[in-house]
Amino acid sequence: MKTKKFYVTTPIYYPNDIPHVGHAYTTIVADVISRFYRLNGYDVFFLTGTDEHGKKIQEAAEKAGKKPKEFVDELIPKFKDAWKKLNINYDRFIRTTDKDHEKIVQEVLQKVYDKGDIYFGKYEGLYCVACERYYTEKELENGNCPIHKRPAILLKEDSYFFRLSKYQKKLLELYKKNPEFIFPESRRNEVISRVKEGLRDFSISRTSFDWGIKLPFDKKHVCYVWFDALLNYYSATKENGYWPADAHLMAKDIVWFHAVYWPAMLMSAGIKFPKRLLVHGYWTFDKEKISKSRGKIINVDELVSLTKNSDSVRYFLLRDIVFGEDGDFSEKALIDRHNGELVNKLGNLISRVSGLIEKYGLEKCENLLAKKMNIKKFNELIKNYEFDKALNEVFSFIDRCNEYVQHKKIWETKNKKVLYELADSIKIIAILLYPFIPESCEKIAKQFNFKINFKELKTPLKISKIQKGEHLFSPVEYKKEDKQKRDKGLQKGDKENLQKNVNNEKINKQVLIHKIMEGIAEVDFSDWQKIDLRVAQIKEVEEIPNADKLWKLKLDVGELGERTICAGIKQFYKKEELINKKIIYFTNLKPRILKGVESQGMLLAATNSDHTKVILISPIDNNAENGMKIS
Ligand code: ME8
Ligand code: MG
Repeated sequence: MKTKKFYVTTPIYYPNDIPHVGHAYTTIVADVISRFYRLNGYDVFFLTGTDEHGKKIQEAAEKAGKKPKEFVDELIPKFKDAWKKLNINYDRFIRTTDKDHEKIVQEVLQKVYDKGDIYFGKYEGLYCVACERYYTEKELENGNCPIHKRPAILLKEDSYFFRLSKYQKKLLELYKKNPEFIFPESRRNEVISRVKEGLRDFSISRTSFDWGIKLPFDKKHVCYVWFDALLNYYSATKENGYWPADAHLMAKDIVWFHAVYWPAMLMSAGIKFPKRLLVHGYWTFDKEKISKSRGKIINVDELVSLTKNSDSVRYFLLRDIVFGEDGDFSEKALIDRHNGELVNKLGNLISRVSGLIEKYGLEKCENLLAKKMNIKKFNELIKNYEFDKALNEVFSFIDRCNEYVQHKKIWETKNKKVLYELADSIKIIAILLYPFIPESCEKIAKQFNFKINFKELKTPLKISKIQKGEHLFSPVEYKKEDKQKRDKGLQKGDKENLQKNVNNEKINKQVLIHKIMEGIAEVDFSDWQKIDLRVAQIKEVEEIPNADKLWKLKLDVGELGERTICAGIKQFYKKEELINKKIIYFTNLKPRILKGVESQGMLLAATNSDHTKVILISPIDNNAENGMKIS
């Protein structure tokens, strides 16, 4: 029987700095997925690497007074070290400066050129020299760069273009025929509606700098860094048969490149496209974007040093947030989970049971306790990327096992059969948790004498001599002063920074709105313009279990289709007062999960300061068209 292949990737990161918690998260998720599929008998290829060409790297190198290649060569070992520290078991670390990759990029460029999808033109646009990038008029604030507050200048550059516009229809077909192509669905819908608005050809070459792959048909030009970078996924597996990828992991920042540019490039070159983009949210630090300039950054060394255990980091990052959503990183939460879940629950179970076995021994019997662990459900949750829930299932089972020890009073009864059930259950726990916390599970497997593979799940544990070993996890104290030390200086000038962030669009719109309301930030007119307000009509009003303040509302937003939101107006409006009412709807807020329901935006309402009164804002004119923009 041929083993099934599974190919998973991370983005290739810019090596202009060492990796931080965000990069670590994506890479850990890819590692968990790859270990899970391997355990299930798949032939897995796991790719990660670095994106080394382009202006950004060239400039970072210049700043450091180094040649670009020399500069990145020094950073790559830091990436590899970080991944080693986190037990990332990749199959290849690709660098876009690898010769085999460069060759394939040139081949693909030539193919696309021969097909007639690349043409020569003039790039004309508004350019910020300080940023070294083009802006659209919409992005500028009264003609000024939103970051540097200085006028953008009109710049022209000779450049080659890729005919992206030609692929609009084909891309829409791709999304339609392959609804699983973009996960989660909210991201898919965003992409579809933007692609429907039309696609502009994009420039794929540069002449203003030379750190890149030369175009095979015009050596004066170097390839645009994204055209080069995306091809890494293909070039790494062109020869070994793993292409097309089963899963490209990434955060929401780079969905557009992967969902639009990438399949269009592949269509043009006549190459199969990947099966799925797995898009996760953003980790923030104290609710703000992780950024070096603000010191809000936590790198892999710092992460691991908090609990001195890389498995805790892996466990925490996957357990603490819902895949697809944003999460705020908290040192205290990491330490709390380490102590509460790994030390007290898992660690305790292993040391109690192994200690008792060392004293009393084992006797084979049917493991009835194991029936409490629903392995099928666990597997389904992982295949659906619900890592937090999957972990929860195992930890509920760990709780059951700890209760079993207590309940059966083994230290009195010395019951060897009960101990066998527990030991065999520990085997199941360790095999299931292995993709998440591999190092600890390998230790457990050694201690209890079993192999970590899927067959062993169903094979009763062999009786062997088991000893109480060392503790798997040591408790850690959370020291507030440590965090304060790290955060020093950040509190100062918070308002200023907030204003900067608002201007830089670094904070999401939801935060923005709260800040506006709190009157903390003076917000520019242009920030208001980013908010998309529309007329919508309430079509359905539903209860949400255990939510006494929220209604789940289905809205008809005209051309934007149907949307679901959760609104905290249940105490103020009855179902029948809402049905068919027209309201005003914020369309482009980040989706949030409330009581298990994804809320895709908010409705406009007014409230007094203590929220004891709420009134819905509704257009007087009930004929206002659904989806109509309000500005
Ligand atoms: O975009 N939260 O590289 P990059 C979660 N070279 N994930 C985060 C994160 C955060 N705060 N910050 C970064 C590039 N990431 C290109 C990619 S691929 C052909 C080229 C993760 O170094 C996340 O996976 O800016 C995000 O998509 C990626 O790092 C961006 O890394
Ligand atoms: Mg980035």
